[in-house]
Formats: sequence, C-alpha cells, structure tokens
Amino acid sequence: MKNIVILISGRGSNMEAIVRALEAERWPARIAAVISNKPDAKGLAFAQAHGIPTAVVPSKEFASREAFDAVLQRTIDGYGADLVVLAGFMRILTAPFVEHYAGRMLNIHPSLLPLFPGLHTHRQALEAGVLEHGATVHFVTAELDHGPAVLQARINVLPGDTETSLAERLLEKEHLIYPQAVRLFVEDRLNIVDGEVRIAETIS
Ligand code: GAR
Repeated sequence: MKNIVILISGRGSNMEAIVRALEAERWPARIAAVISNKPDAKGLAFAQAHGIPTAVVPSKEFASREAFDAVLQRTIDGYGADLVVLAGFMRILTAPFVEHYAGRMLNIHPSLLPLFPGLHTHRQALEAGVLEHGATVHFVTAELDHGPAVLQARINVLPGDTETSLAERLLEKEHLIYPQAVRLFVEDRLNIVDGEVRIAETIS
C-alpha cells in the first residue's frame, strides 16, 4: 500500500480526479494527506469531505524558499509519503527539496513540454500559433517544468480559441492522464532509463 501526498495551491480539480480514480479503481494506495501552501485553497474542503487528512504550510509566512521547503518536507515526510503529487501547486521548489523526492515526485503542466514552460501556457500557445496544445505529466527535476515525461494529452487549437476555452478543454484531458500516471507509479510500472520514462507492460 503506497502513501500518496498531494500538494495543491487552489481549486484542486486534478487532486479530485486522482482521489475519485483511486476510490473507483481500488488502487493499492491511499491518499495520506492533501497539503496546501494557501489556507484558502478550495480543494481542501473536498479532501476533508473524503476523510483525507489535510495540512496547510502557509508559504506567505516564510522569509525564504529554503525555510518554507524545509517545513514542507518535514510535513510531507510526517505522512510517510512514497509519492508526492503536485496538482496545481504553484511554487518554485529548491534543489535540495527536489533532490529529496527524486524519482517519486510528479507534476502536471498545461503544455506539451518541452514547449511553453512557466506561466500562462495557453497564452503562450496562442501567441506561438500552434495547431496542437496539451498537458504533460512528468517527474520533477531541479529545472522548472523539465524532467522525464510520463504521459501527454493533446487537443487541437481551434479557430476562435481563447486562453479560457483552451484551459477548459485541456483540463478535461488533465483529469484523465494524471490519475493514469499516478496509477502507473503505484503499480511500479514507471522506470527512468537514461533520463526517459519507460512504462512496463502488464503481464496478463
Ligand atoms: C492545472 O491546469 C495544472 O495543469 C496547472 O494548474 C491547474 C491547476 O488546476 N498547473 C500548472 O500550471 C503548474 N505549473 P487544479 O487546481 O484544478 O488541479
């Protein structure tokens, strides 16, 4: 039974999708905690309603990234985390923190990485005039929005699309690939070989 700790900063809809998939598909895992860096994150209420322990480590109250990450790490490890899932966790993480969770921390980013790292990915996609946009679940490494990709989802960019319409359409896909990726980790099917993810087939 693997312990998953999910970090959020806001709405938490990806966290919700993972919780629902875990419950419906009975993964050999449990959500040990949902932790937010914002006291008013909407997703905390959903977690509490599902009987999941929640914690807040308020980033605003820390003088440095190092101090915040140290307390966050202690909090996560207090729940015995085997996997840390960043689900709309809007923080730049320090290298020692990332290193501590090497190979066991996942993130979802709303672009087809390596395209459009950073913020405002839908705007970046529209400005670049791409015909296809998407989202990437990846292992977290020290370089922001890099790291070995696990799964990607794609959508077409349609005439008249706006940042909002792209974000809405993409979110539905995020809710499919993030639970799938977490499940693959839980089933020990993800291996990083030469900086790339290999997905082990199931034996039937
Ligand atoms: C999601 O679209 C996620 O891909 C994005 O924030 C949103 C969070 O929504 N993450 C990033 O931009 C990370 N750089 P949610 O709180 O409803 O899951």
